[in-house]
Amino acid sequence: MDSFIIHGGNRLKGKIEISGSKNSALPILAACLMAEGKTVLKGVPRLSDLDSMAKLIGELGCDVFRHESGATLGDGPALNGNLDLQVTDESMCEARYDIVKTMRASICVLGPLLAKRGRAIVSIPGGCAIGDRPVDLHVRGLQKLGAEFRTENGNIIGEVRGRLKGCRMYLGGAQGPTVLGTINVMCAAALAEGQTVLVGAACEPEVVDCADLLNKMGAKITGHGTPEIRIEGVDKLIGCEHRIIPDRIECGTFMIAAAITNGELELKHCNLDHLIAVVDRMDEVGIKTSRENGTIHCSSARRLNAVEMTTQPYPGFPTDLQAQLMALLCLADGMSVITERIFPDRFLHVGELNRMGARIRKEGATAVVQGVKELQGASVMASDLRASAALVLAGLVAKGTTRIDRVYHIDRGYEKIEQKLRAVGADIERVKER
Ligand code: EPU
Repeated sequence: MDSFIIHGGNRLKGKIEISGSKNSALPILAACLMAEGKTVLKGVPRLSDLDSMAKLIGELGCDVFRHESGATLGDGPALNGNLDLQVTDESMCEARYDIVKTMRASICVLGPLLAKRGRAIVSIPGGCAIGDRPVDLHVRGLQKLGAEFRTENGNIIGEVRGRLKGCRMYLGGAQGPTVLGTINVMCAAALAEGQTVLVGAACEPEVVDCADLLNKMGAKITGHGTPEIRIEGVDKLIGCEHRIIPDRIECGTFMIAAAITNGELELKHCNLDHLIAVVDRMDEVGIKTSRENGTIHCSSARRLNAVEMTTQPYPGFPTDLQAQLMALLCLADGMSVITERIFPDRFLHVGELNRMGARIRKEGATAVVQGVKELQGASVMASDLRASAALVLAGLVAKGTTRIDRVYHIDRGYEKIEQKLRAVGADIERVKER
């Protein structure tokens, strides 16, 4: 297992290229199980979660080939070569526990398998570090399309007699809409008979990206990006070429890296529209952001203001940037209040940030952050992806040396993060864990 050693205090300055979105690419790879012929995906980041998804769809009969070139195409991130995908065998229908337990997004194969192959066996994802993560809304949505389910030995077993049938359904849950649930049901409905209307659908850019891919494949989807998605079922989907959208969470994380080090970064290939709520909070904290074509310029004032922030479904402030903003607010002038409405237990970073000298008190789903003058380097433990990113940010500004163990959590979602940060002046290196 690897660790990061960070010597804090360097001001970051320079350009960083934003990768394609992990959370867009994961369900899109699963959706490719429904297509006939070859699909070419551009901008798929090299991340361990994507390796797991590629392995899973490989076991389900989809050949996956990554080109090594990574040539610049001029219209987006070019860190990686294209991914070619083609289904060659439709006989397998099982997502094994071994893969599902390492990557919850494995649930995304459920809808595509049921719609295309009429059968799916998917191991039930357990809880994870950020809390209970049920999949009941995925299952209910697919049931409404006519799939039948039973659970057996920790697996969800789904079957379709004949073809799925479109209907009008409400898809929201107690915590609001579900991102991957919306995508799962939308994928299945693309091949169902007749019209499906998803009311209470998630509006995240990742849902829109998947709908755009499906439409290129021949699906008839409208209203994506709004809470009501309409899908006219089609008989088949044909492979296409598609570029994955930029990773808005990676982009937001580097915006905070610029702010926390009092630095100045140019973030290339990103979409500021996807970060409107983040820019709004950053503005109040005192961080300047401007955009020119696909590049965001980000710089900070010396004094950071305390703010209130609540995570919400898109277009609200994303839960996936809550930990990183908290790291920044540890150094703000005054008391900030952060409320987590999507995953109320997603506060594993609080204890570790406090070890670095932060003053954070957790009360239920709210954290009260009393700004301090400085953070100090310490040995800390990465616990989940975004909590780990928050520790990297804290380490960049902390006095002395920070050692972060178990950085495999970061490798799930940030492509070459230490290389990108080093290139703009950070003193960070990857070492083998003690
Ligand atoms: N929920 C249910 N039942 C369900 C599904 C969700 O009650 O069947 C609840 C969840 O427990 C949560 C809320 O609904 O309280 C929203 O969860 P959602 O389903 O939207 O989360 P997800 O689709 O499983 C994706 C991202 C997460 C991100 C969330 C919220 C991927 C692979 N994962 O998860 O990303 O936090 O949406 O935006 O797209 C991350 O990248 O670090 C990450 C955790």
